[in-house]
Amino acid sequence: MQVVLEAIIAGFSVRMLAIIIRRMDANTPSSPGLHQLNVMRLSWPADWSRIFGEQRPLIVEIGFGNGAYLLHLAERRPDANIIGLEISSRSLDIAEQKIIKRGVQHIRVVHSTAETALHHLFEPATIEEIHINFPDPWFKSRHSGRRLMQRATLDAMVSRLAHGGRLYLATDIIEYAAMCAELFAETSGLENQLQTAWVNQMPGRIVTKYEGKALREGRPCYYFAYRRNHETVPHIPVIKDLEMPHIIFKTALHHDDVVAQFEPRSYSINEVHIKLMNAYRGERAALFEVYIKEATIDQHLVLLFAAREKHPGEYTLKLSSIGHPRPTAGVHQAVALLGEWIAGLHPENEILKNKVRT
Ligand SMILES: C[S@@+](CC[C@H](N)C(=O)[O-])C[C@H]1O[C@@H](n2cnc3c(N)ncnc32)[C@H](O)[C@@H]1O
Repeated sequence: MQVVLEAIIAGFSVRMLAIIIRRMDANTPSSPGLHQLNVMRLSWPADWSRIFGEQRPLIVEIGFGNGAYLLHLAERRPDANIIGLEISSRSLDIAEQKIIKRGVQHIRVVHSTAETALHHLFEPATIEEIHINFPDPWFKSRHSGRRLMQRATLDAMVSRLAHGGRLYLATDIIEYAAMCAELFAETSGLENQLQTAWVNQMPGRIVTKYEGKALREGRPCYYFAYRRNHETVPHIPVIKDLEMPHIIFKTALHHDDVVAQFEPRSYSINEVHIKLMNAYRGERAALFEVYIKEATIDQHLVLLFAAREKHPGEYTLKLSSIGHPRPTAGVHQAVALLGEWIAGLHPENEILKNKVRT
């Protein structure tokens, strides 16, 4: 509703708005049900006691797929709050239906990558157990950056585990198992609970969908079990929202002139990748479609360059609410870059106020 109002005020037709939102659909959080949450709509860090209505130990499953193992965890630990992290909307819907059907009260599923959730939703030393079952292997070396198990993400997991907390991982891919064994061996905050790097059987657990497929096809599975020890590990703070960025300009230009001169461009600054993708014309504002990739979060959002109603000749560049963006350091950088470009379009342009962190 807020999005529609904002667009109508900016003079965009509903049709144009629909086109922009459709382009950004993947990043636009749906309105989730009671058990389904979205990382873009939760507070950073999330207030789990409020969400569950009670403070209890936190157990997290990453990439829960069809949700069967989440329900198994809930059955095994009626005393805990169980949180599932998934990127697949279909898996989230399927798991939510199962949770509702079974009437389970102490599970919530969150639409988020594990990487984003670990850095933005959880405070250090707050998770009692982390479970990872059959993570996507991303075999090709050019896709290795997408693998869940890598140094930065494992460090975030260790940081979020409480002392004595457990980390369980299962995979059916020997190369992935070997890579994980190496990573774990280099992780001082974790202690192996097994006599060997992994075992090929783990009694007491249910068989997940991918596990069942591997076993039916005669492929062995590799199970890991680690415990958070008392060694000090690097402090990885929760990444919280910054203040909303905005820039106020005095300009001789009309926003139509700004849109007319726009050309897509990309920037890479300190591991932040920013694409200024498209510009759209409205009656009282221009919209800029922007993609921002940061180490812990990707955002596809819209910046609004809007005429100030009571200040002729002045415009504000700010974050639109389309796509439910969060003001991160990368978002501030994107506003700064677009603002710099707009300021340079005319010699008489002047920045009156700059509320952007660079
Ligand atoms: C191979 S499937 C395994 C599903 C299930 N755990 C099982 O054992 O049957 C991997 C799952 O992880 C999810 N996934 C992949 N990358 C993820 C990430 N970065 N964060 C959270 N979930 C992820 C996928 O959507 C998929 O559901």
